[in-house]
Amino acid sequence: MQKTTTVHDCAVIRLPNIESDRKGSLTYVYNNAHVPFAVRRVYYLYDVPAGSLRGGHAHKDLLQFIVAASGSFDVIVRDGEESRTFSLNRPFYGLFIPCLIWRELTNFSGGSISLVLASLPYDEQDYLRDFGEFTRYKGGQPQ
Ligand code: TYD
Repeated sequence: MQKTTTVHDCAVIRLPNIESDRKGSLTYVYNNAHVPFAVRRVYYLYDVPAGSLRGGHAHKDLLQFIVAASGSFDVIVRDGEESRTFSLNRPFYGLFIPCLIWRELTNFSGGSISLVLASLPYDEQDYLRDFGEFTRYKGGQPQ
């Protein structure tokens, strides 16, 4: 993955959904088909109190795909120059975030669940948790 990512590399991807009035709906995700990477980890945020801010960091190498599996929330992404806000509110849409993009999750609705598909195992060394450190690290990447 190129280190010169911008917020314009973030993209909402529509997933397949099979609807049935009788049985409810179903969505599925395949590696390298619906998400542009192989999923190696799944985690989810739940019981998030209204008004909470999650995220507030970037990743050096990790690729992520974030789905509002229930309820809604906003994802604010920043690349050091521009920012964009994506509102996620249906389980068949997800936001792809490449590496080296700062993200914040906010405006959680009550009972919302943020499902995250990730390209790598958890590694604290992959985190950039300070915005200044993030911009310096990104600026130091080869163009
Ligand atoms: P963090 O990624 O900082 O959460 P958020 O940005 O949503 O606030 O993770 C919170 C805590 O959970 C932190 O101590 C690391 C731990 N954690 C894991 O152990 N494994 C994981 O896969 C994730 C995502 C977090």
